[in-house]
Amino acid sequence: MKIVSIIGARPQFIKAAALSHVLRQHHHEFLVHTGQHYDYAMSGIFFDGLDLPRPDVNLGVGSGSHGAQTGAMLKGVEEVLLAERPDYLLVYGDTNSTLAGALAASKLGVSIAHVEAGLRSFNRHMPEEINRLVVDHLSDLLLCPSDTAVQNLGAEGITRNVYLVGDVMLDVVNWAKQCLATKPSSILERLNLSKQSYLLATVHRSENTDDPENLSQILHGFNALDELVVFPVHPRAMKVIAEARYRIEPHVRLIDPVGYLDMVSLTSGARLVLTDSGGLQKEAFWLGVPCLTLRGETEWVETVEAGWNVLVGADSARIVEAVHSFVPRSSRPPLYGNGFAATRCLELLT
Ligand code: UD1
Ligand code: UDP
Repeated sequence: MKIVSIIGARPQFIKAAALSHVLRQHHHEFLVHTGQHYDYAMSGIFFDGLDLPRPDVNLGVGSGSHGAQTGAMLKGVEEVLLAERPDYLLVYGDTNSTLAGALAASKLGVSIAHVEAGLRSFNRHMPEEINRLVVDHLSDLLLCPSDTAVQNLGAEGITRNVYLVGDVMLDVVNWAKQCLATKPSSILERLNLSKQSYLLATVHRSENTDDPENLSQILHGFNALDELVVFPVHPRAMKVIAEARYRIEPHVRLIDPVGYLDMVSLTSGARLVLTDSGGLQKEAFWLGVPCLTLRGETEWVETVEAGWNVLVGADSARIVEAVHSFVPRSSRPPLYGNGFAATRCLELLT
């Protein structure tokens, strides 16, 4: 089979690292980078640091409003599909790259496989929620990471070709743990950190970065803590922090975004994670690090039910209170599959 895969944003490089090589053992993959993320620290670093093939084409779309960005990708992906005529289009997650890929393929009658299908926050103010809804309704093969995702699709009447495969990000975390066991990352030494002596934070959701009240609450919460906070800053957040000149206390260390293996090391060594990232909530769970989610809801409800994740919203008082008091449950159930989701995806595609 010939498969065109669409990637473009940071978490998609990580997810594709699980699937690309597995696909290529049996099929021909044409890898399209939309160019949604383009800074070295948001894109190139993952091609250098992960076991991920180079893209066959980069559409170079870059940043823009939702319409401009998605429209440019739609045009670019359509051209690729017309030239390549694949048997399947493979899309990951819920970004504008995912949406553009699925829209282009659906109009050309190319079958669509969606990795990470069925997630819902039930919050239509999130651009990702709109992307998920559209992509799932257009997809021909829905590869779900959790039972909840399967049920969400069922509630919308999507029941055909829906499969529980587990989460491809667990495959990648396991790969990273193996790599780090033989060749540890030096990030803790470089940042002069010792294990358990810091909190790790990331913030990039539009509801937090584009809402001055929410961002101010989050930064106020970090500033009010009496522990070191290591904060690899997404360019979206950095732009706002720099423009609005938010006050940042010295114990809140803003650093550039880091590569994947460094990020897994930073997460493993942290006492606690504070984040609005989807991927990082799960990674914290798998690595046994308690997580405070800087949102009012999560798609990864199982991590909350398991007692390892708490929703604190963008609320400085709740952030501070939970950093001081949150103790995770003593046990951690296995969540989101067995670490072989990519193999299961391949079986179903084939
Ligand atoms: C996107 C996804 C989000 C995902 C996130 C992963 C959408 C709607 N959102 O959000 O689901 O969780 O990626 O990180 O697709 N920028 C740079 N350099 C870059 C990339 C972005 O400076 O390499 C800045 C630009 O100012 C840009 C802003 O970040 O306007 C936002 O980038 P964009 O890709 O539109 O959305 P993300 O917030 O990254
Ligand atoms: N990540 C990384 N370096 C960083 C910040 C995050 O490698 O500086 C990884 C993180 O470990 C996770 C993924 O990026 O695997 C999550 O991406 P992001 O938070 O951008 O998007 P989301 O998962 O929320 O869609």
